[in-house]
Parts: sequence; C-alpha cells; structure tokens
Amino acid sequence: MLDAQNAPAAPITIRREDYRPPDWQVPEIALDFDLGAERTRVRSTLEVRRNGVHDRPLVLDAEALIIVGVTVDGSPVDYSYEGDLLTVPLAAASATVETVVDLAPRTNTQLMGLYESGGILCSQCEAQGFRRITPFPDRPDVLTRYRVRMTADRADYPILLSNGDPVGSGESEDGRHWAEWNDPFPKPCYLFALVAGDLVANRDSFVTRSGRKVDLGIWVREPDLAKTDHAMTALKASMKWDEDVYGREYDLAVFNIVAVSDFNFGAMENKGLNVFNSRYILADADTATDTDFDGIAGVVAHEYFHNWSGNRITCRDWFQLSLKEGFTVFRDQQFSADMGSAAVKRIEDVRMLRAAQFPEDAGPLAHPVRPESYIEISNFYTATVYSKGAELIRMMHTMLGAERFRAGTDLYFDRHDGEAATCEDFVRAMEEGGGIDLSGFRLWYSQAGTPRVRAALARSGEERFILQLSQDVPPSPGQPEKQPMPIPLKIALFGEKSGTKLDERLVLFDGPAHEIVFDAFGERPILSINRDFSAPVVVETDRTIADLAFLSARDDNPFARYEATQQLMLDTLLSAIAGSEADHAPVIEAVRETLADPALDPAFVAEAVLPPSEAFVGDHMAIVDPEAVRAAREELRSAIGRALEAQWRAAYSANSANRFEYSPAGKGQRRLRTVALNYLMAAGAADAPALAMRQYGEADNMTDRQGALAALVSSDAPERHGALAAFYDRYRGDPLVLDKWFTVQALSTRDDVLDAVEALASHPDFTLSNPNRMRSLVGAFAANQRAFHDPSGRGYAFLADMILAVDRLNPQTAARLVPPLGRWRRFDPARAARMKSALERIVASPGLSKDVFEQVSKSLI
Ligand code: PHE
Ligand code: ZN
Repeated sequence: MLDAQNAPAAPITIRREDYRPPDWQVPEIALDFDLGAERTRVRSTLEVRRNGVHDRPLVLDAEALIIVGVTVDGSPVDYSYEGDLLTVPLAAASATVETVVDLAPRTNTQLMGLYESGGILCSQCEAQGFRRITPFPDRPDVLTRYRVRMTADRADYPILLSNGDPVGSGESEDGRHWAEWNDPFPKPCYLFALVAGDLVANRDSFVTRSGRKVDLGIWVREPDLAKTDHAMTALKASMKWDEDVYGREYDLAVFNIVAVSDFNFGAMENKGLNVFNSRYILADADTATDTDFDGIAGVVAHEYFHNWSGNRITCRDWFQLSLKEGFTVFRDQQFSADMGSAAVKRIEDVRMLRAAQFPEDAGPLAHPVRPESYIEISNFYTATVYSKGAELIRMMHTMLGAERFRAGTDLYFDRHDGEAATCEDFVRAMEEGGGIDLSGFRLWYSQAGTPRVRAALARSGEERFILQLSQDVPPSPGQPEKQPMPIPLKIALFGEKSGTKLDERLVLFDGPAHEIVFDAFGERPILSINRDFSAPVVVETDRTIADLAFLSARDDNPFARYEATQQLMLDTLLSAIAGSEADHAPVIEAVRETLADPALDPAFVAEAVLPPSEAFVGDHMAIVDPEAVRAAREELRSAIGRALEAQWRAAYSANSANRFEYSPAGKGQRRLRTVALNYLMAAGAADAPALAMRQYGEADNMTDRQGALAALVSSDAPERHGALAAFYDRYRGDPLVLDKWFTVQALSTRDDVLDAVEALASHPDFTLSNPNRMRSLVGAFAANQRAFHDPSGRGYAFLADMILAVDRLNPQTAARLVPPLGRWRRFDPARAARMKSALERIVASPGLSKDVFEQVSKSLI
C-alpha cells in the first residue's frame, strides 16, 4: 500500500468552464517584510470585501508557509491551514485580516516566491508564487493597491526595491534600514515584486510625450554595470515606440529593472520593477553575440510593453494567458522589425514558430491558444500561448491593416483599462474598433493543431487558371474532429517568361475548399503563397523544383523568396533521404544566385543560404530517421560548399574584420561571414580550420569568436581542443559566456557528443540549480537530433536522469525538459520504445512534482 507521503500527487485538473468570480475582493494590502536570507518574516494586512451575496469563508492560497499568526480586525481567529489553503471564517461583509508568516529564501530552490540569487533576495510571483510569500487569493482577477515596507541589514542589502514609487526610507536598529514603496495602480498579486541586495544602477531618464519625467534604473551587481548600456538604449527606444505606434505612455515616475542570475524564464513584467534573467540584460562586444544583443532588446521591449498589455489590462484567469502574452510578443516582434531588418526578423520568428510551436501542436501536449484545462499552469507558458498567440494577433493585423488594427487596440485599451479581461474581450474590441466580423476567426483560440493547406494552380481550358485551395486541421488530444479555419493567405502570381508580377492579393480562405479563377495571362503563372507567412499553417503546393528556383531568384517578397529556397532544399533533402540519387544542382544554383545578387542584404543572404534544420526536415517525414537526416543534410552542405568554394571565400573576405559595431549592417556581415566559414569547413577546404582559428584569435566580438569555435567543435580538426581550452580559460569567470561553452559542445555534429555531454554533466562548473547552466547543456543536447536520438537510447536515459534530478530542486524547469521525450510517436518502434520507457521510469518515480507529472503522463497517452 502507498502511504500518504509516497502517493503520487493527486493531480487536480482546473477547467476554464469552471470560472467563478472571486468570493472576496482585496482592495488594499500593506506588506511588511523583515528580510533575511535564512528567515524572512512577512506581516500582511488585507482589507477584504465580500464579493456578492454568499456566506463562504475567506479562503487564501498559502503554499509552504510557516504561519505565525492570523487576526481579524485585531483579534485572533480560529483559522485552518490545510492543503495549501488558509481558511478564515468571516461574518461581516468587510474586514481587516492580518497574517504573519515566516519564509526561508535561502532554501527556496524552485525560484518561485521569495528566493536568493547570488546574494540578492528577489521575488517571482507569476503565475502562482505570491502564495509562497503570504496567504492571499492568488488569482489574477483580484486587483489590489499595494503598500510595501521592507527592513533589512544595510550592509548586505543596501538597495530595497518594490513596485510603484518610493515613498520613504530610514535607519533602524542594529545596522538595519527600511524603505517603503507605494504602487497607486491596483494590480493582481502575480505582478508584485521585491528586490533587496547590494546593487548598483545604470541610471537614465525618459520624458514621456505628455512631458512627465521617468527615472530609469537598471540594477546589477557592481562588476556588471558596464554591460547594461544596450539594455538601457533598448528600454528608451521601447518607451518611445509604444507612444508612437500604440499611443501608450508610461504611468509611474520610476521604472526599474533588476538582473539576477537564477531565473526560470526570460524576464518578468512586475509593475514598475521588472526582474530579468541576467542573460537578457548583460551584454558587451566581448561577451555577447549579436543574437544575445537582439534577444536583450526584444525582451526588454516585451516586458516594458506588458505595462499596458498585461498590467494596466490583465488576465481574468490563467486560461486567458495569451491575451497578454500573444499580444505582447506580437508587439515586441513589431518593435524589433522596426529597429532592424523586418524581413530577417520575420524569418527568425517563423523559424522559432516552426522549431517549437509546430511540433508542440502536432504532439501529445498540443493545446489551444486559449487552453481548456490544466493541472499546473506553469506548464502552459508555451510556444502555443506565446508564438502562435502572436500569430493570431498578426493575422488580425493583416486582415485589418495597420490603421484599423490601431483603432481596435485603442478601443481595447480604453474599454478595459484597470480590468482583468479575456481573449474574447480583445477580439470584440478588434471587431468593434476595427470594423470586422471575427466570428469564424475565434476558432483560432479554441482549436489546437496546425492547419494544412493544399494549393494547386492549374490551367483550365485555354484561357484561365484556377487556384484550388483545400485545408484540414489534424486531430489533437481531446479534439478529434476539427472545423475549417479562416486562413488569411497573401498570394501573388509571377509570369514564368516575363518574370513580372501578374496578380497579388489577400485571400481569406475559410471553408474546407476554395477556388480562385484567374483570367488569361498569356504565360504560365507561378504561385507565391503565404507571403510574409501571413498565416501559421503548413502549405503544400504542386510547384516544381523549377518553380521554386524561379521564386528563389525573383520573388519580390523577401520572406517568400527565403521560403522558396528553403522548400527547394527541403524537397532535395527529402528525396535524398527517400533514396533517390540526390540532385544538388538546383539548390547550388539557387544559392549561387542569392550570393551573387548585389541587391540583397547580407543578413538576408545568410538566412536564405542555410539549409533547414535537421529537426525541421524530420518533421516532414512519416517516421523520423535522425541518422539519414544528418547524413543527407551534411552531404548537401558539403556539396554546396565544394561547388561554390570560390564564392564562399569571396563572401568570407568581403565580410571580414571590420571594427565591431552593433548595427543591422554589422550583424548581417558577421552572420554571413560565419555561414561562409561553415561552408568552407563543410567543403573540407584544407585551410578552413586555420581560417577558423584565425577568426577565433582575431575576433573583437563574441559573435565571430563563438561562430569560429562552433565550426571547429563540430569538425575533426585537432585545433578544436585548443580553441575549447582557450575559450574556457578566458571566460571561466563569466557564467553567461561559460553557458555558451557548454552549449557549443552539446550541439556539435561530431559522433562523440554523447560521451562529451555525459562528461560535461560532471564538470565542476556544471550545476542543476542554475536554470541557464542546466539548459545550456541539457536543453541544448536534447535539441541535437542525431545525438539525442542515438539508437542505444543513452540520450533518453540521460535526459530522464536529469529531469528526475532537477525535479527535486526546481519542478518548473524540470517539466520544460519533457517535450523531447514526448515525441516518441514520431520515431521507429525501437526508438519509440526506449523513449516511452524513459517516460515510464520518470512517472513511476516517487515524489514527482505535479509539473513533471502532468507533462509526462500526457506524453504517454
Ligand atoms: N510573464 C513573463 C513574460 O512573458 C514570463 C514569465 C512567466 C516569467 C512566469 C516568470 C514566470 O514576460
Ligand atoms: Zn510576456
């Protein structure tokens, strides 16, 4: 028999349809923190008000708290604390409820609630961490005004920050001091934040368009101060952009950001006090790649934009998460597109969507953008809620056009300011403000799965051409039958002979099948479809290799041009994998033309000449064969490398060694340079390793240095050992750069990766307790298709061991490692059996968190 302690957590499923308004509202809270890493005492005074007519007690969420006392209107009360709920009987319609609890931040390894990171005390409350700080109705539709007082040792914690504006500070006894903050905007408790530490600030200011001055601070530990300028520049640009593009002005006198080393996600939009994973703040040329710089600007913007899309208007319940996340991702994507190359940004976003969201949507963890149920909400901070959610907003933008879209968002912000809203509220504001009927479009929120569109363009009689479109949405867990979705497709036709654009339009395709008739063009038209990736769908066409080659050289939509080259490469790889004699010539010619086109931006060229990832190729196979994919892709790379060796050399030197400058042009040149280096390595050019070593040695920036290192680490060149050792010696003291050292090794295409990764897991610098470090090795390894799917099953066993070990410390981070194992249905029976047994071993382990339990049990169904 199972005793209570070893019983698997009886998981409770929460359903969207069960939503009920809160029994009690909490208009005000006063929080008093007596801070210490070993022990923090929290005194919390709630003004509570009965919501509606009922006689239910006040039930507060309270997780892992030591309750010291509870009073109601000043008198002790007969409360109960069971199963993470503190129940307080209340007779009156309103009351003052005071609780006193103790916390132990130092032993909080989950990084939820109040925890310690590198000597800093900081909080993380989204989604349900506030209940680990103080008893409270921990749900986003309870909006409260916060007043916060913190007392702490002055030497250890000279800086004390919370939400809103600072309203007082002073000395207390025994070397302690205090500070008080007041946030005038009612907010849900997931936006509460507190930080105490020995921090210094990069200070600046921003004057809003109505002339209010905002003091800005980016707080870090002293040695990191010099790495905060890029984030500050991005913050000011974001504040300006949100005024210009959405008419949104910042609303407090202070905006602070704090960077911490231990953080489960990227960053958190707490009102007036964003807390960031340091990897999304710290950058300089020597330690951060261009991708890091771009990521920082994007995440700083994202969190800042949440001030309106998330904070001023928040979510009624967690099923509405995409209301803030999908919209805010769309906003940060638009911002990044405006700051650099829009075409390259779109390519990167689509690549991300296809790498993370499409597989999720096709697998056991598929869920709608607005989920119907969950066991652990932390598991729903997914690519579907974020990236597909952003695609939904983008489709509305495409259908409405920028101006009417803005009328819709104006209405949304105006109508729901200060409220906890739903996805439905957003859609309705778009309909009314933008003047569009979105009744059918709502399906995108409720139906999971990536629609598949088939498009065939055929001559009909002498004169006409007909474009036939059909769609189907594959079944997903709990949704066996699907309805057709409204799909906005940007299409164009090009004349095969003239090369001119014959037609261009936006098609809204919303039935199972649809026909569009075109009158005579006098030449055969070639179809360009889903331009700009106007809809998050898979498109299958009857276009020939020659059609794709044509578009690859001539399409005037940069995304479609990129896409044609990708499709050409994909078709070539798939037919090689299927066993036909591989004909690399059309791909080589397309790459040659792209490289030779002087009108193209190097950043675009660098994206367009890269073959699709191994994972993406595998996604197009009935049963994934990782070895065949690796072999075909490496063969193609080497053929492109050899055939165009002179061009790669030319591209390499044309884009070499200018002084580092973080600019769209500089980034593009560096990217193309390393792409050229990799093709020279793939070609087996005798001098390529030396070229890589020279690039490594002479680099004045991390992009070039890491690019050279990665090229060497995947090769047989003996130089790789020296480069890895030099990199380690130079950067061993910089955790964010050391993460890169782990990652390049985990992503290597060499055959001995598994050995290397297992050895690295015992390296003194490896730790499970820091999420960045753990993901830098384990997360990267699980993305290495050939190595992770080693036929021995060793990769699966390694990942399962890691999941179990991390789960004891940090369930959220552990649960996010599960999806690669959940893809077992996509593999051959031998691999599938080994993946399944790794999952079965996990689910049979005693003391599993509900986070991992949910992901693993759903993956096994
Ligand atoms: N809300 C954060 C964001 O998207 C993400 C996050 C979720 C951070 C949960 C921490 C915890 O910006
Ligand atoms: Zn967000």
